[in-house]
Amino acid sequence: MAKEINTIGVLTSGGDAPGMNAAIRAVVRTAIANGKKVKGIMRGYQGLLDEEIIDMEAKSVSDIIQRGGTILGTARCEDFMTKEGQEKGAAICDKYGIEGLVVIGGDGSFRGAQKLSHLGINTIGVPGTIDLDIACTDFTIGFDTAVNTAMEAIDKVRDTSTSHERCSIIEVMGRHAGYIALWCGLANGAEDILLPERYDHDEQKVINHIIDSRKKGKKHHIIINAEGIGHSTSMAKRIEAATGMETRATILGHMQRGGSPTCKDRVYATIMGSYAVDLLCEGKSNRVVAYNKGQYVDFEIDEALAMKKDISDYQYNVSRLLSR
Ligand code: ADP
Ligand code: F6P
Repeated sequence: MAKEINTIGVLTSGGDAPGMNAAIRAVVRTAIANGKKVKGIMRGYQGLLDEEIIDMEAKSVSDIIQRGGTILGTARCEDFMTKEGQEKGAAICDKYGIEGLVVIGGDGSFRGAQKLSHLGINTIGVPGTIDLDIACTDFTIGFDTAVNTAMEAIDKVRDTSTSHERCSIIEVMGRHAGYIALWCGLANGAEDILLPERYDHDEQKVINHIIDSRKKGKKHHIIINAEGIGHSTSMAKRIEAATGMETRATILGHMQRGGSPTCKDRVYATIMGSYAVDLLCEGKSNRVVAYNKGQYVDFEIDEALAMKKDISDYQYNVSRLLSR
């Protein structure tokens, strides 16, 4: 028989992402509407182990839907990677009466949720990461805001790049995933995009492309470089030496993780937060909420973690074709 949940906990974990607050608000208010008590766990799994647990009411989440970051704070927690840490976390949930838990974060956070689920705490994951690198879902909270922030910044760099007839290397976030770089490549019409999933580290090809473009009369050359490839400043020096074109590097960095969430991030985060609570109310556990093929759905966490995701060859090829 499905376990009845009276108290629901919520935490945010891993890198923060704009829209996490909208998800927290939806979790809290949907739970209260279903007659549940809600506990907010501060600073992810670290806050759980440190028992930083607060009571939440409907008004605890007033005036947050438009705010970036996460009101609960977030952290990366080494201790929770261990069996002892996970058992301690489950015991603390029991102590506070937390029978169901919504974990808003990325793949790593879902691994933690999976462990808690196996220890008897009903857990549901909600995908929150600017990287869009969760295989089971076409949407992750924060990607839309981050990619729009990066796109606007790149437009600005492009203006000055054109005026000065320079090459600009703009580094965007994504240590392992090139989605922000790919989308900016398409949205900003970049001449080159260097993605962790595709870059062959043959800098001479990039140099040849710059030389060809100059011959065709292009006044700027925009290279979007993903964080996972990095080294933008030294790359700029080498490119300037090889092409004679003045080259500057701009690292956009954590500005991409902040700011007021876009409409899309707010709406999808809200639906996913409510959906997660509905799953808990139905007695479900060890599941992750996803937006897949135009529908809100849920997958077993084990199945979701086993799925693989790669950059679309078609999108990548279109970006290359249009930059020639
Ligand atoms: P994200 O959730 O964005 O992928 P991380 O990979 O940094 O971010 O994971 C966030 C946190 O989730 C980690 O600091 C850790 O506390 C927890 N976590 C990650 N992997 C595991 C795991 N295999 N088992 C238990 N907890 C994990
Ligand atoms: O949240 C995802 C992300 O922003 C990645 O793109 C990046 O590689 C990583 O987090 C950086 O995290 P931090 O600087 O917080 O350690």
